[in-house]
Amino acid sequence: MAQTGYTVSQMISAKAIAARIEDLAREIEQDFAGTNKLVVVGLLRGSFVFIADLVRELDLPVEVDFLEASSYGNAMESSREVRILKDLRGEIQARDVLVVEDIVDTGHTLNHVVGLLRSRAPARLKTIALLDKPVRREVDFRADWIGFEIPDEFVVGYGIDYAQRNRNLPFIGKVTLHEDAS
Ligand code: IMP
Ligand code: MG
Repeated sequence: MAQTGYTVSQMISAKAIAARIEDLAREIEQDFAGTNKLVVVGLLRGSFVFIADLVRELDLPVEVDFLEASSYGNAMESSREVRILKDLRGEIQARDVLVVEDIVDTGHTLNHVVGLLRSRAPARLKTIALLDKPVRREVDFRADWIGFEIPDEFVVGYGIDYAQRNRNLPFIGKVTLHEDAS
Protein backbone atom coordinates (compact mmCIF):
# COMPACT_ATOMS: atom_id res chain seq x y z
CA MET A 1 0.00 0.00 0.00
CA ALA A 2 1.51 3.29 -1.06
CA GLN A 3 1.17 6.35 1.12
CA THR A 4 -0.86 8.88 -0.79
CA GLY A 5 -0.78 11.74 1.64
CA TYR A 6 -1.21 12.97 5.16
CA THR A 7 -3.24 15.32 7.26
CA VAL A 8 -2.07 17.63 10.02
CA SER A 9 -4.20 18.20 13.08
CA GLN A 10 -3.44 20.78 15.74
CA MET A 11 -1.80 19.48 18.90
CA ILE A 12 -0.45 22.67 20.55
CA SER A 13 -1.88 26.07 19.62
CA ALA A 14 0.18 29.15 18.77
CA LYS A 15 -1.30 30.81 21.85
CA ALA A 16 -0.25 27.96 24.16
CA ILE A 17 3.28 28.05 22.71
CA ALA A 18 3.55 31.81 23.24
CA ALA A 19 2.36 31.52 26.85
CA ARG A 20 4.82 28.73 27.58
CA ILE A 21 7.70 30.70 26.07
CA GLU A 22 6.93 33.63 28.38
CA ASP A 23 7.23 31.33 31.41
CA LEU A 24 10.41 29.70 30.11
CA ALA A 25 11.96 33.10 29.43
CA ARG A 26 11.38 34.19 33.04
CA GLU A 27 13.11 31.01 34.29
CA ILE A 28 16.03 31.48 31.90
CA GLU A 29 16.39 35.14 32.92
CA GLN A 30 16.65 34.07 36.56
CA ASP A 31 19.12 31.32 35.79
CA PHE A 32 21.39 33.56 33.71
CA ALA A 33 20.79 36.70 35.79
CA GLY A 34 23.66 39.17 35.49
CA THR A 35 25.25 37.50 32.49
CA ASN A 36 26.82 39.68 29.85
CA LYS A 37 28.25 36.86 27.80
CA LEU A 38 25.28 34.71 26.78
CA VAL A 39 25.26 33.08 23.35
CA VAL A 40 21.96 31.51 22.32
CA VAL A 41 22.72 28.69 19.88
CA GLY A 42 19.94 27.49 17.62
CA LEU A 43 20.12 24.05 16.02
CA LEU A 44 19.18 24.39 12.37
CA ARG A 45 16.76 24.13 10.88
CA GLY A 46 13.94 23.08 13.21
CA SER A 47 14.60 25.61 15.97
CA PHE A 48 14.48 28.76 13.83
CA VAL A 49 10.97 29.83 14.83
CA PHE A 50 11.39 28.87 18.48
CA ILE A 51 14.72 30.71 18.88
CA ALA A 52 13.25 33.80 17.19
CA ASP A 53 10.36 33.94 19.64
CA LEU A 54 12.48 32.94 22.65
CA VAL A 55 15.21 35.56 22.25
CA ARG A 56 12.64 38.32 21.73
CA GLU A 57 11.07 37.32 25.05
CA LEU A 58 14.43 37.27 26.90
CA ASP A 59 15.34 40.38 28.84
CA LEU A 60 19.07 39.60 28.77
CA PRO A 61 21.92 40.75 26.53
CA VAL A 62 22.26 37.92 24.02
CA GLU A 63 24.22 36.96 20.97
CA VAL A 64 22.75 34.45 18.54
CA ASP A 65 24.62 31.75 16.66
CA PHE A 66 23.59 28.64 14.76
CA LEU A 67 24.82 25.11 14.33
CA GLU A 68 23.48 22.43 12.02
CA ALA A 69 23.69 18.76 12.88
CA SER A 70 22.37 16.01 10.65
CA SER A 71 19.71 13.78 12.12
CA TYR A 72 16.75 12.77 9.99
CA GLY A 73 16.78 12.42 6.24
CA ASN A 74 13.50 13.09 4.55
CA ALA A 75 11.76 10.33 6.44
CA MET A 76 10.31 9.76 9.87
CA GLU A 77 13.24 7.65 11.03
CA SER A 78 15.89 8.64 13.47
CA SER A 79 19.58 8.42 12.76
CA ARG A 80 22.08 7.42 15.40
CA GLU A 81 25.04 8.95 13.67
CA VAL A 82 25.23 12.67 14.25
CA ARG A 83 27.35 14.84 11.99
CA ILE A 84 28.03 18.56 12.20
CA LEU A 85 27.03 20.11 8.87
CA LYS A 86 27.53 23.72 9.90
CA ASP A 87 29.53 24.78 12.93
CA LEU A 88 29.19 27.92 15.06
CA ARG A 89 30.67 31.13 13.67
CA GLY A 90 31.81 32.32 17.09
CA GLU A 91 33.96 31.06 19.95
CA ILE A 92 32.18 29.88 23.09
CA GLN A 93 35.13 29.43 25.43
CA ALA A 94 34.30 31.09 28.78
CA ARG A 95 30.91 32.16 27.42
CA ASP A 96 27.47 31.26 28.76
CA VAL A 97 25.70 29.10 26.21
CA LEU A 98 22.02 28.20 25.81
CA VAL A 99 21.43 25.55 23.15
CA VAL A 100 17.96 25.74 21.60
CA GLU A 101 16.45 22.65 19.96
CA ASP A 102 13.04 21.89 18.51
CA ILE A 103 12.53 18.31 19.71
CA VAL A 104 14.39 15.82 21.86
CA ASP A 105 13.47 12.45 20.41
CA THR A 106 16.04 9.63 20.76
CA GLY A 107 18.37 12.18 22.39
CA HIS A 108 21.32 11.45 20.08
CA THR A 109 21.44 14.89 18.47
CA LEU A 110 21.49 17.03 21.62
CA ASN A 111 23.69 14.56 23.45
CA HIS A 112 26.29 14.78 20.67
CA VAL A 113 26.06 18.56 20.31
CA VAL A 114 26.35 19.13 24.06
CA GLY A 115 29.43 16.89 24.19
CA LEU A 116 31.03 18.82 21.36
CA LEU A 117 30.27 22.25 22.82
CA ARG A 118 31.40 21.26 26.33
CA SER A 119 34.80 20.32 24.87
CA ARG A 120 35.18 24.02 23.97
CA ALA A 121 35.10 24.98 27.67
CA PRO A 122 32.12 27.33 27.91
CA ALA A 123 31.59 28.94 31.34
CA ARG A 124 28.10 27.44 31.48
CA LEU A 125 26.08 25.38 29.03
CA LYS A 126 22.34 24.82 29.26
CA THR A 127 19.81 23.32 26.90
CA ILE A 128 16.19 24.03 26.04
CA ALA A 129 13.89 22.09 23.75
CA LEU A 130 10.38 23.11 22.76
CA LEU A 131 9.20 19.51 22.66
CA ASP A 132 10.26 16.30 24.37
CA LYS A 133 9.24 12.75 23.48
CA PRO A 134 10.61 10.88 26.52
CA VAL A 135 9.28 7.47 25.45
CA ARG A 136 11.52 7.60 22.37
CA ARG A 137 14.76 8.15 24.27
CA GLU A 138 17.76 5.93 23.41
CA VAL A 139 20.47 7.82 25.31
CA ASP A 140 20.24 9.27 28.78
CA PHE A 141 19.71 12.94 28.00
CA ARG A 142 17.57 15.58 29.68
CA ALA A 143 17.25 19.15 28.53
CA ASP A 144 17.38 21.79 31.28
CA TRP A 145 14.11 23.29 30.04
CA ILE A 146 11.30 21.69 28.06
CA GLY A 147 8.32 23.47 26.55
CA PHE A 148 5.97 20.52 26.28
CA GLU A 149 6.21 16.81 26.80
CA ILE A 150 4.42 15.00 23.97
CA PRO A 151 3.54 11.39 23.18
CA ASP A 152 5.22 9.35 20.44
CA GLU A 153 3.62 11.17 17.51
CA PHE A 154 5.27 12.72 14.47
CA VAL A 155 4.74 16.47 14.64
CA VAL A 156 5.21 19.45 12.34
CA GLY A 157 4.88 23.21 12.43
CA TYR A 158 6.46 26.10 14.31
CA GLY A 159 9.73 25.42 12.48
CA ILE A 160 9.45 21.63 12.46
CA ASP A 161 9.14 19.81 9.14
CA TYR A 162 7.96 16.66 7.50
CA ALA A 163 10.07 16.20 4.34
CA GLN A 164 10.92 19.93 4.58
CA ARG A 165 7.27 21.03 4.51
CA ASN A 166 5.01 22.56 7.16
CA ARG A 167 7.72 24.54 8.97
CA ASN A 168 5.58 27.65 8.45
CA LEU A 169 2.54 26.42 10.38
CA PRO A 170 2.07 28.71 13.42
CA PHE A 171 1.07 25.79 15.68
CA ILE A 172 2.38 22.28 16.44
CA GLY A 173 0.38 19.70 14.55
CA LYS A 174 0.28 15.93 14.52
CA VAL A 175 0.86 14.12 11.22
CA THR A 176 -1.46 11.27 10.21
CA LEU A 177 -0.47 9.28 7.14
CA HIS A 178 -3.11 7.96 4.76
CA GLU A 179 -2.63 4.76 2.87
CA ASP A 180 -3.88 4.20 -0.65
CA ALA A 181 -7.11 2.20 -0.43
CA SER A 182 -7.14 1.08 -4.07
P1 IMP B 1 17.06 12.87 18.14
O1 IMP B 1 18.50 12.88 17.80
O2 IMP B 1 16.42 11.54 17.86
O3 IMP B 1 16.72 13.35 19.53
O4 IMP B 1 16.38 13.76 17.08
C1 IMP B 1 16.05 15.04 17.24
C2 IMP B 1 15.74 15.59 15.89
O5 IMP B 1 14.89 14.72 15.13
C3 IMP B 1 14.94 16.87 16.05
O6 IMP B 1 15.78 17.97 16.06
C4 IMP B 1 14.10 16.88 14.80
O7 IMP B 1 14.82 17.47 13.74
C5 IMP B 1 13.90 15.43 14.45
N1 IMP B 1 12.58 14.98 14.89
C6 IMP B 1 12.29 14.21 15.97
N2 IMP B 1 10.98 14.02 16.09
C7 IMP B 1 10.41 14.69 15.07
C8 IMP B 1 9.04 14.91 14.69
O8 IMP B 1 8.06 14.43 15.30
N3 IMP B 1 8.84 15.69 13.60
C9 IMP B 1 9.88 16.23 12.89
N4 IMP B 1 11.16 16.07 13.23
C10 IMP B 1 11.42 15.31 14.31
MG1 MG C 1 16.49 18.92 14.27
